[in-house]
Amino acid sequence: MKVLIVYDSYFGNTEKIARVVADTLASSADVETVKITGFTFDQVSGYDLLILGSPTRGFNASEQVQAFLKSIPAGGLQGIKTAVFDTRINPDTIKFFLSRFIVKRGGYAAEKMAAALAQKGAVLSAGPAWFIVKESEGPLVEGELEHAAQWASSLLEKAA
Ligand SMILES: Cc1cc2nc3c(=O)[nH]c(=O)nc-3n(C[C@H](O)[C@H](O)[C@H](O)COP(=O)(O)O)c2cc1C
Repeated sequence: MKVLIVYDSYFGNTEKIARVVADTLASSADVETVKITGFTFDQVSGYDLLILGSPTRGFNASEQVQAFLKSIPAGGLQGIKTAVFDTRINPDTIKFFLSRFIVKRGGYAAEKMAAALAQKGAVLSAGPAWFIVKESEGPLVEGELEHAAQWASSLLEKAA
């Protein structure tokens, strides 16, 4: 199986998750990992599974990930297996009720990326996954790298 992992990351947390997912999948798949900067839709062809990862920024994926999703032509991912993950803050750790409410209500990158990919015809191999950072710049909460490895293992079974 050929897997392509495309991710964005400002502070390195989403990149760490992408690397663990890649390392886990590499035991039984041919994996390529690329940062989204400069990545274009025509580079997607030839892979069995596309994994997209983004930090949640302003209740959505990063600008570059959103621009990439918009650039995919209608039906451009017809039948292609995909999976998505994001990194985000646990809203329950936000002190102020109103901010907590707004963050929960606003949503997250993974669900929005999944919807955008499905709209382009992709088949989602698994539900959206997310990994929690402690503060805006990280680090990842303890156990999230192991969580990422588990998620990657489950993907292998689902996408087989
Ligand atoms: C400008 C900005 C907007 C953010 N918006 C959200 C948000 O809407 N929801 C959320 O859970 N986290 C939000 N965060 C926290 C990011 O999710 C966090 O910085 C990211 O997971 C870190 O991943 P990275 O190191 O790969 O960039 C925001 C952070 C920044 C700097």
